[in-house]
Amino acid sequence: MAATGHDGPMTDARWQDADNYLAEQLVEDDKALRSALEDSQAAGLPAIAVSPLQGKFLYILARLIGARRVLEVGTLGGYSAIWMGRALGPQGRLVSLEVSPEHARVARANLARAGLGEVAEVIVGPALVSLPKVLEQAGPASFDLTFIDADKTNNAGYWEWALRLTRPGGAIVVDNVVRDGEVANAASTDSAVIGSRQVIEAMGAAPAAVATALQTVGLKGYDGFAIALVSGPDGTA
Ligand code: SAH
Ligand code: DHB
Ligand code: MG
Repeated sequence: MAATGHDGPMTDARWQDADNYLAEQLVEDDKALRSALEDSQAAGLPAIAVSPLQGKFLYILARLIGARRVLEVGTLGGYSAIWMGRALGPQGRLVSLEVSPEHARVARANLARAGLGEVAEVIVGPALVSLPKVLEQAGPASFDLTFIDADKTNNAGYWEWALRLTRPGGAIVVDNVVRDGEVANAASTDSAVIGSRQVIEAMGAAPAAVATALQTVGLKGYDGFAIALVSGPDGTA
């Protein structure tokens, strides 16, 4: 039975059971990923990484588009970065932006243990400060895939930078946009909900992208992500 209402997170044991079953069948038990979560927890990081199934979805998405260069906003302990970094091949490059030096330290160690020490770079600082520098150094349209998963308040700003930094034919994924369905609440005063609505509306209005969003349930409750395909200035990919 769904324990819900507007006064608490919507959770359902069936969602978790199904997620666990699906992950058991589909996601191989992996030392580097498991250790990344264990060490993140030991270091006191919040347990808000993408789920194993979601991580593998990001991996498959990166493989599908032949990604070689990935940009991530919000590293935490590097769990999603490991998944995406593994999709890139030895010439791959993953740049992940993280405001917390402690999170970045844990993430770098986790990425190194996963064999991605040469592939992944974690840049410490507020992402809105780092993103202009990334653009300066890497140039426009230099990433195949951008994963936005940091503070939700700044999502619309991250989206604008992602549009500049992601190549036509590339993809931009924004995590956690549904927020227990609160995304539909225009009267919400929650800054994360407001940020989610702002990014959804910007994605819908962007001439240089086609976007959709999918609601999800599972280990992380009721949430969802948005995904955009970046197109060229003339609407072609
Ligand atoms: N992508 C990660 C989870 C990220 S959690 C995973 O799935 O494994 C969100 C992260 O964004 C946290 O580590 C938080 O410290 C970071 N963050 C919050 N505000 C930020 C900001 N302004 N700039 C960069 N990172 C930020
Ligand atoms: C939170 C952040 C996330 O990126 C996520 O996937 C779940 C929760 C949070 O800040 O609570
Ligand atoms: Mg997230």
